[in-house]
Amino acid sequence: MLRVLQLTGLALVDLANARWMGIPTVPSVAGSDQLRLNDLRSIIVDSQYSGSVNEKGQTLIPPTLKEFAQTFSDDLTRIGVNTSVDVGDSTSNAIFLTLGDPSRYRDAAGRTTSEGYTLSVSKSGINVTGASPLGVFWGTRTILQQAIASNGSIPYGQVVDSPGWATRGMMLDAGRHYYPPGFLTEMCAYMSFFKQNTFHLHLSDNLYNNVAIYGRERSLELYARFRLWSDSPDVAGLNKYKNESYTKEQFDDIQSSCAARGVTIVPEIEAPGHALVFVQWKPELGLTDDLSLLNISNPATIPTMQSVWSTFLPWFQTKTVHIGADEYTGEVNDYNVFVNAMADHIRSVSGKDTRIWGTFPPKYNVAGYDNIYQNVSVQHWEFFEDNPLYEYIKHNYSVLNSDDTFYVVNKWSGSYPQALNITRTFDGNPASGSHWYPYVFDTHNSSNNPSPDEALVLGAIAPLWNDYGANASVYSEAFYAWKEGIPALADKQWGGNLTSTEFESLFANLLPHVPGQNLERGIRSNTPTILEYAFNASSTGPGLQNRTSSLISDYSGNNYDGTTDCTASNTSSALLVTGRCSLVSPLGSKGRDYTLTLTLSISSLANPTNATLISGTDSALLLTPNITFVAGGEYFRLNSSLPLGKKAKLAIIGRGNRTFAQLDETEEEEFLTRMGINGERFQWTGMAFEAPLRKIGGKEAGWTGELYGIKLVNSA
Ligand SMILES: *[C@@H]1O[C@H](CO)[C@@H](O)[C@H](O)[C@H]1NC(C)=O
Ligand SMILES: *[C@@H]1O[C@H](CO)[C@@H](O)[C@H](O)[C@H]1NC(C)=O
Ligand SMILES: *[C@@H]1O[C@H](CO)[C@@H](O)[C@H](O)[C@H]1NC(C)=O
Ligand SMILES: *[C@@H]1O[C@H](CO)[C@@H](O)[C@H](O)[C@H]1NC(C)=O
Ligand SMILES: *[C@@H]1O[C@H](CO)[C@@H](O)[C@H](O)[C@H]1NC(C)=O
Ligand SMILES: *[C@@H]1O[C@H](CO)[C@@H](O)[C@H](O)[C@H]1NC(C)=O
Ligand SMILES: *[C@@H]1O[C@H](CO)[C@@H](O)[C@H](O)[C@H]1NC(C)=O
Ligand SMILES: *[C@@H]1O[C@H](CO)[C@@H](O)[C@H](O)[C@H]1NC(C)=O
Ligand SMILES: *[C@@H]1O[C@H](CO)[C@@H](O)[C@H](O)[C@H]1NC(C)=O
Ligand SMILES: *[C@@H]1O[C@H](CO)[C@@H](O)[C@H](O)[C@H]1NC(C)=O
Ligand SMILES: *[C@@H]1O[C@H](CO)[C@@H](O)[C@H](O)[C@H]1NC(C)=O
Ligand SMILES: *[C@@H]1O[C@H](CO)[C@@H](O)[C@H](O)[C@H]1NC(C)=O
Repeated sequence: MLRVLQLTGLALVDLANARWMGIPTVPSVAGSDQLRLNDLRSIIVDSQYSGSVNEKGQTLIPPTLKEFAQTFSDDLTRIGVNTSVDVGDSTSNAIFLTLGDPSRYRDAAGRTTSEGYTLSVSKSGINVTGASPLGVFWGTRTILQQAIASNGSIPYGQVVDSPGWATRGMMLDAGRHYYPPGFLTEMCAYMSFFKQNTFHLHLSDNLYNNVAIYGRERSLELYARFRLWSDSPDVAGLNKYKNESYTKEQFDDIQSSCAARGVTIVPEIEAPGHALVFVQWKPELGLTDDLSLLNISNPATIPTMQSVWSTFLPWFQTKTVHIGADEYTGEVNDYNVFVNAMADHIRSVSGKDTRIWGTFPPKYNVAGYDNIYQNVSVQHWEFFEDNPLYEYIKHNYSVLNSDDTFYVVNKWSGSYPQALNITRTFDGNPASGSHWYPYVFDTHNSSNNPSPDEALVLGAIAPLWNDYGANASVYSEAFYAWKEGIPALADKQWGGNLTSTEFESLFANLLPHVPGQNLERGIRSNTPTILEYAFNASSTGPGLQNRTSSLISDYSGNNYDGTTDCTASNTSSALLVTGRCSLVSPLGSKGRDYTLTLTLSISSLANPTNATLISGTDSALLLTPNITFVAGGEYFRLNSSLPLGKKAKLAIIGRGNRTFAQLDETEEEEFLTRMGINGERFQWTGMAFEAPLRKIGGKEAGWTGELYGIKLVNSA
């Protein structure tokens, strides 16, 4: 069948089938004409429901319909559509947001879902009717996607839409790699645009404790982290890294920013396996033969973990929390006792439900064997751990699908890919030979999969693991590993049926406009040159001669003018940079691809260990020792340095997922990381740094010299 997708200038309509297109799929009937959003001036929130919230989701801080309306209005502004948000009853020439009969919206198991919505568009305006305010919010994502792809218009038509599964999202290993709060909230914005609603944060873990080669001392020093910071005496000493942790205030902000876009943070504190951080805190709690495992038969172990949870449960704005319980290799019965004791504690202290990773499936007719409670939900990840259908679902356990079909291990792995394999979302279903859906646990053998309407399948979460730790990647590399994966999976987690061809063209159109984030660190530019400061009068501009203000003109045409309190050199052909003055640009950071060229002459280096040439919001470039990138608190050095007392041209090139330096147009040298692989060997791989753009000079500079010019272009 011939399909025609019209993607530019006209509506996002599949003409052959007269339906709207979106990520996820939009079940719709499209008319032939369209409405210009800029002809509507307001979003009207039905006065009957403006304060309503969705209490059926996982979040405990659901936004009101009015609050969602404001987020929608802000998002429209970013794509050039100005609307006011009013509370009222009028429906014409407006986007009217209201609630309607929730029984219209069914999930894959045929139950009502609070996330459904109806959307109708005609010449008189737009109505969005949700099963709840969250349903309305998902409807507004559909409007935005149409408007983005069709230059501010939306086709006439009708949509009745609801997700097949209630838990749709991603899991980030923030235990073996820190991520700043802003990165997490931008990720929520990205996920939310494709109607995912869950961001599972793995908040404690350690590098693999290789007991075959590590002694006790080395295990006790191995990288292990707990990412929540509390001043409570009950956890004093557990976390030693405040600068790589979330305070209560930061965690509150992450949760509320994500909730504002319909995404719930599900926190995980991992024990009794992957628990070295607790053993480093209280060494007596570890199993002597593997300190990353808790000794559950030590009478202090369960009370200690219950006390940790008591400290942090009041922080968590979700109905379900995750206690880890992954890959424990101690006694099975101890493990079951631990899980049930934690579930009882969490329930009695907070009323919350407990989730674990599938590890030891229940056994029946085995004397003295206490299975984990059926009301603890199980996150399946690998068939060598469990068979989710036969071992859990058939015994009435609820299961979340995190099968390692969609695992990502950042940067390098002996077993998993470095970016989510989206091919498997389109052809991962052995039963039908077609799309993967959350009920597909086994992509090879369909007899291991329940029926599509199995009510005990909660949904799906795809994890990214940082097996090789903090220096393997910069923050944004987790985003790039998922950039296509999130929308491709989100379609199927919702129940959509986009083909890979449809997906590719839709995604290319939507990507530049996903609201609430700039994870790619793009910079608006009218020309291939994004920024150019030239201090030499003989080049593009008047240089520094006769300068009367602190303004430094940007010659790119983009008006990214900088400011400086540095003086000009004697010849007025350079800026004299010292530790007592600086040059500041309005830009912070540029993501791949880019070439940043600095022409300069260093006259002295006062700081032999950390002289900073230029710093930005995601990285800094150092001069000592050797040319060095610093990002996320990690240092990546070249074998070369800038010459002293000699004019040099240094180009920093961000090309895809690698970064290079080039001195005076000679050979490029690559910035590499040296990752430790389980204490056995090293693996050298490339790094994808953002270009630092904010500041040159100042207190932290540690050098003096003449700066002739800076140029940033958007290619490599
Ligand atoms: C997009 O719409 C604006 C006005 O809203 C118009 O000026 C512009 O030409 C349109 N672009 C295309 C490609 O249709
Ligand atoms: C895909 O889903 C849409 C909306 O639910 C439906 O109208 C369409 O028939 C489906 N297409 C295929 C090929 O199953
Ligand atoms: C939207 O509002 C902004 C700021 O008030 C204004 O600059 C812009 O021209 C408006 N756009 C339209 C399409 O009205
Ligand atoms: C929106 O709903 C109102 C009230 O039911 C109705 O009068 C109006 O025609 C609807 N508009 C659209 C675009 O469906
Ligand atoms: C676990 O703790 C118990 C009780 O403290 C102790 O007897 C046992 O030796 C410990 N086992 C290991 C393997 O550390
Ligand atoms: C969970 O199941 C256990 C064992 O059946 C029971 O003791 C506990 O009360 C249940 N919790 C809830 C919240 O139902
Ligand atoms: C880096 O990018 C190349 C080319 O796109 C790709 O083949 C490779 O897998 C990527 N490496 C990582 C670690 O993501
Ligand atoms: C992605 O998955 C498909 C289907 O399983 C497989 O054929 C392909 O090799 C995978 N690609 C990568 C890069 O792992
Ligand atoms: C700077 O000022 C001097 C003296 O007023 C003048 O001769 C010269 O042309 C000016 N240079 C520029 C680039 O404006
Ligand atoms: C080194 O310089 C970078 C960039 O200015 C800065 O972020 C970092 O804190 C400095 N490190 C030390 C140890 O001073
Ligand atoms: C946190 O501080 C430690 C100790 O000063 C430092 O080594 C680490 O790089 C810092 N982390 C980040 C993300 O800046
Ligand atoms: C700096 O580069 C030299 C080679 O020019 C190398 O021998 C030295 O180890 C490097 N220093 C650091 C700290 O990487």
